[in-house]
Amino acid sequence: MKHPSILAALALLAALSCSKGTPQPFQVIPMPNEVTIAKGVFPVKGAALQVDQALDAPSQAAISAFVQALETATGKALKEGEGGFSFHLNPDLEAEEYFIRIDKKGVAVEASALNGFLYACETLKQMLPVEIYGSRKAKADWVLPRATIHDKPRFAYRGMHLDSSRHFWSLDEVKRYIDVMATYKLNRLHWHLTDDQGWRMQIKRYPRLTEVGAWRAGTVVGKDWGRTDGILYGGFYTQDQLREVVEYAAARGITIIPEIDLPGHMVAALASYPELGCTGGPYKVWERWGVAKDILCAGNEEVFTFLENVLYEVMQVFPSEYIHIGGDECFNGDAEPERPDPWDICPKCARRMAQLGIRRGPGAKHELQNYVTSRIQKYLSDNGRRIIGWDEILEGNLQPGATVMSWRGTEGGIQAAARGFDAIFTPTGYFYFDYYQGRERDKEPFGIGGYVPLEKVYSYEPLQGIPPRDQQHILGVQANLWTEYISMPEHLEYMLLPRMCALSEVQWCNADNKDYERFNASLDHTFGILDKKGVNYSLDCRGLVGLERKPARSAADLEAYLEANPVNW
Ligand code: ACM
Ligand code: ZN
Repeated sequence: MKHPSILAALALLAALSCSKGTPQPFQVIPMPNEVTIAKGVFPVKGAALQVDQALDAPSQAAISAFVQALETATGKALKEGEGGFSFHLNPDLEAEEYFIRIDKKGVAVEASALNGFLYACETLKQMLPVEIYGSRKAKADWVLPRATIHDKPRFAYRGMHLDSSRHFWSLDEVKRYIDVMATYKLNRLHWHLTDDQGWRMQIKRYPRLTEVGAWRAGTVVGKDWGRTDGILYGGFYTQDQLREVVEYAAARGITIIPEIDLPGHMVAALASYPELGCTGGPYKVWERWGVAKDILCAGNEEVFTFLENVLYEVMQVFPSEYIHIGGDECFNGDAEPERPDPWDICPKCARRMAQLGIRRGPGAKHELQNYVTSRIQKYLSDNGRRIIGWDEILEGNLQPGATVMSWRGTEGGIQAAARGFDAIFTPTGYFYFDYYQGRERDKEPFGIGGYVPLEKVYSYEPLQGIPPRDQQHILGVQANLWTEYISMPEHLEYMLLPRMCALSEVQWCNADNKDYERFNASLDHTFGILDKKGVNYSLDCRGLVGLERKPARSAADLEAYLEANPVNW
């Protein structure tokens, strides 16, 4: 039998080494731009807490959320006092910049505004065991490595897009999407709220947009354009609900940029108000995918009154500096190839072209579209807002102040910057997250086509091909998630992740701070985080193809969701 005092000494030694603990390997995504790790750790369980009272209320709320997560996961409250966590206002830092020093005295955080504090807290969470993302007390090594981190993003615009028209996403689902974006320090949600297949935003002055335009009589089955499932499908967000999401996103450092796609992709609006079209209809909310031929009439003044009234209400709900006005795919719709484009035969459009001195020819429709874009840009600009449009808006005399979203490759963005316009890159070949990501397509959930694997997303260099004098115009990068073939949240999340993690490093990390091997090795930790959040993701990068893996949510959850949202799956 060992002597009791030796046992006690051993127990004390064990307790001491346990309180020292082993920090997580450093697996933060996106990787901070300057990190120095030192020897030793700081134990966080029950540590002291000091928050500079000069911080604004949103920053204090962000810190409280972090503290609450820590208290829940460690099971111990943080006590007000010195020698632990301290959060300071440092007005010399940029709004998204932060500074963290972890040493034997504690964890000192400095930032100047909400986003900086949010990002510092998120970095600290990702440096801790994944249990920090759980909802109950957990046993873990509750220590942070001693380190110095000075971090700020490479690009100011770090976007993710969501298509709520082709398939409708509940408020909860949109909030989950926002949560995941916030985890990876994205700051813009581009929300596609209107399209041929459904109008999703309540507009009080035009109630038929949601009484009629939010509902389609069926949805095409697979890619068989001749067949629909015949199931009524739809939904819309009230303005109060949209305000709730705007506020939810703002608290997480994310600005929502709404998109009202015009003058094309408007069949749902035409079905609601047929007088806005060149032919007068009748029109039906579209039940198939593709590019519709029918668009708003550019020769009818009522159309401009309609658009201004709609955009007025959009501005009342969304405070963003930018409003996305679409502008893509207005001509040569793939349905009814034998029918001419309405703008080619409409007397009102012809009269407008004559008034504007637009000569007939291949460029005429683009010039007329440019007239629509410029009028709407002026209306929004008179109200203190700026436009973003898909790269088709460049095909005409685009007015100063517009921002171009380059989706048909990168040429649009390169040209836009050369002509003095700001640009955001979202090329299909790198950032269309509706494209397949798995090597074995037949094992993937049925999709639109294409192939954008994780490595391809990661490999994108936004300034490639941009002369130094134009680089100031590159605001950033965004990925798009169109949902023609995505109707379930599990599938949506599966397409989003982990590609959005790769996107976040393209957006955040300085070029010399990117490293695919290091990023790939960090994914295991991030998968643990997503499991804790109950968010689905693809494991193709770990050799597990398709949806072989169990969805993170239970079968009962899935069934309840399907019952509430009958969809074409
Ligand atoms: C687009 O994908 N039509 C912008
Ligand atoms: Zn017309």
